[in-house]
Amino acid sequence: MKSAGASGETPTDFPQAGGHWLFGHAAQMMSATHLVPAEVAAGHGGAAWFRVLHKRFLAVSDPELVRQVLVTRHEKYERSFHYRNMQAVVGHGLLSTDGPFWLKRRRQILPAFRLDGLQRMAPAAQAATKAMLDHWAAECRAGRPIRAISETQHLSLAVIGRALLSADIDRDSSARFGAIVRDGLYWLRRRNTSLFMPPPWMPTGANRHLRRTRRLMDDYVNAHISERHGCPVKHDILETMRAVREPDGSVALDDAALRDESKTLFIAGFETTATSLAWMLYALASRPELVEQIHDELSQVLAGDAPDLESMKRLPLTQATINETMRFYPSVYHVSRQAIEDDEFNGRQIPRGSQLLLSIFGMHRDPALWGDPDAFRPQRFMEAGWPSQAFMPFIIGKHACIGNHFAMIEMTIALAMIVQRYRLELADPAPVGMIARITLAPDRDISLRLVPR
Ligand code: HEM
Repeated sequence: MKSAGASGETPTDFPQAGGHWLFGHAAQMMSATHLVPAEVAAGHGGAAWFRVLHKRFLAVSDPELVRQVLVTRHEKYERSFHYRNMQAVVGHGLLSTDGPFWLKRRRQILPAFRLDGLQRMAPAAQAATKAMLDHWAAECRAGRPIRAISETQHLSLAVIGRALLSADIDRDSSARFGAIVRDGLYWLRRRNTSLFMPPPWMPTGANRHLRRTRRLMDDYVNAHISERHGCPVKHDILETMRAVREPDGSVALDDAALRDESKTLFIAGFETTATSLAWMLYALASRPELVEQIHDELSQVLAGDAPDLESMKRLPLTQATINETMRFYPSVYHVSRQAIEDDEFNGRQIPRGSQLLLSIFGMHRDPALWGDPDAFRPQRFMEAGWPSQAFMPFIIGKHACIGNHFAMIEMTIALAMIVQRYRLELADPAPVGMIARITLAPDRDISLRLVPR
């Protein structure tokens, strides 16, 4: 292994990937953000430095090093500045903080997301999926195709709305609220990827958009929180968070904390789940044989019912299809961390201050770990010996997605209810590409024809 110190000031033993002498990998990061860390790491045995203009990043796809950063030596790393930037919209919530503040919050909120705490979430997902299917029935009667991304965005918002706030977010309000959330995510990404990051008080376009998103989301969530004072107890995540107490019995999360965490759950859970669901519909519409096999499994186990937390465990092919969707199209394609202490990996130095990009996409597509990784084949998850150490759509360790069960329940219910009612066909057979925005999204909306069973 050759020694490589990119700037000469921070010598390290990790290789340095080539790139444009001035811009480094800036152009490639603009056009295919998900591919650069994956390819740089894969081309150099699992970890290598690369440069975007003057900024250096350590691209990592070696699952052992990813585990070290996220689990075994997590205390040497913290979330990078990208996450703090989210405070412009969500304030201080689970996704935008780290350290002792985050840890206390995580412990307070976790019970609402444990499987037993999510018992009531399944009916919310069933009701929202049924509403979507009723809309599909009308579209189908009118001979109109549906658009996958628009549909899954409505569904995802409707499920979070019901489970978090007991709010019935209809299609019109979901379109309006979804546009607000997406606008915020878009400007956050613009801010995170721009060369100059203006301070929040500067009257720039990005700051204006972010302030507007924050205000509109605050208004929406605050209305639900203030409605709760003195009203009968509701059975939702907001109520579980309201019930959290400090050891001395006082209220743990005041209204500002409830607002910030509620906004965080919308921001973290909306687009991620909607994108995964859209890819799942695309994968199904492209594979009629797989759909029939899933249909057989559903008929045997559910006999026409919607799945619940119990019956879900008896749907191996359905679960494997969701896993394969998230392996193939990981909606969170990489996560970033900063070393706050010196570290090393197999003798190679990771100096304090290093910015790491842990490539989920790279791990999920590594041919050294997965047989035929560029083939969509759910059955791989039903075979013994699949590389579980390299499968982490929700990451691992202390920041592992708090909504992972929530998302899995939502996707299983949606998949089961859709396949029991319809066969799907691609209205436009041209292949759909991937585009890395906030999530790894389809590069165009996917038009699907519905064929009733
Ligand atoms: C397919 C859907 C989803 C995927 C792929 C996903 C993925 C992830 C990943 C990779 C992280 C780690 C971010 C980091 O620290 O770098 C994360 C964190 C988080 N996710 Fe998800 N997520 C999904 C759905 C959801 C849902 C439905 C919710 C809530 C309703 C949610 C809430 C959160 C929260 C609050 C965090 C921050 C956790 C913490 O640091 O304590 N996610 N998610």
